[in-house]
Amino acid sequence: MFNPDNNQLKELISDNSNNEVLRIRADEVRRKYYGNRVFVRGLIEISNICKNDCYYCGIRKSNRNISRYRLTEEEIYSCCETGYNLGFRTFVLQGGEDLYFSDIVLCRIVNNIKNKYPDCAVTLSMGERSYESYKNLKSAGADRYLLRHETADNTHYSKLHPAGMSLENRKKCLYNLKSLGYQTGTGFMVGSPYQTVENIISDLRFMQEIQPEMIGIGVFIPHHDTPFRDYPHGSAELNIKLISIIRLMFPKALIPATTALGTVSPDGRERGIQAGCNVVMPNLSPLMFRKSYELYDNKICTGEESAQCIECLRKRVESVGYELDMSRGDYPDV
Ligand code: 5AD
Ligand code: FES
Repeated sequence: MFNPDNNQLKELISDNSNNEVLRIRADEVRRKYYGNRVFVRGLIEISNICKNDCYYCGIRKSNRNISRYRLTEEEIYSCCETGYNLGFRTFVLQGGEDLYFSDIVLCRIVNNIKNKYPDCAVTLSMGERSYESYKNLKSAGADRYLLRHETADNTHYSKLHPAGMSLENRKKCLYNLKSLGYQTGTGFMVGSPYQTVENIISDLRFMQEIQPEMIGIGVFIPHHDTPFRDYPHGSAELNIKLISIIRLMFPKALIPATTALGTVSPDGRERGIQAGCNVVMPNLSPLMFRKSYELYDNKICTGEESAQCIECLRKRVESVGYELDMSRGDYPDV
């Protein structure tokens, strides 16, 4: 197993001469466990209402310039039905920290989806909740949970988030999710304001501690209605190199080629796949709300029907010699 020390990591991150070697090795490792398969997750953005105020995020509560929406339960089920008919077997319910989604409401939704589609996995990405809440949602049938740690450095964390949010609590949530038996996803933004090479090394070390089943990293992209509007977006090249490093350090991880990477570079997702990504997440949200879930500027896939999005991704994945796999795509045990 690839277990670089801090000096090696620092050099790999700062110097680009080994990028192609890293990429080829990472691709070999992913082929060993996954062949050329790329798993599909249907993303349903259920609400852009959020009680938090993260400085980087377009749906932060202080942003008065977006129209807020929350899907009805019927709308959520209808997205699942569309997705199921298109062959999706994983649904990711993602949203801001919207207090409307109490345990009672969210458990009912998870339960209904699992009853209707027992062959599907349900992933939640609804932010920080209590241990009890995660436990209830697990009992209701949730299989997986995505909660990026965003940065594993306390000082950096406090530059990205207002007082009241803490890395400590974020980590606690992740340990709770793990202990409850969720397939747990974490990750961070590449090139977020104030990020240093040392911060990235801390991110990798934290992930070694947590051993996440899923790892999502995507470039930071400024949103015009946030305090970080004037910061530059992160580098696609660094994002791609980090994908390779992460693939080598976490050989079996499920790693998405993110929409953010596809937004800063037209062939970003394809290059992500060639560098070790094995997941894509086409958008299943109703078209009329897509534009309102803009976490960052110029987000792609906001104008395409779900069916178009999956076909577009299929073409992209096949164009670089990989193949879409529509099965649940669980983390391989052992
Ligand atoms: N640029 C890139 N990614 C972002 N996210 C939030 N805002 C931005 C942005 N401006 C990411 C965060 C969050 C995930 C859902 O989207 O990492 O965890
Ligand atoms: Fe959504 Fe291309 S992946 S339109």
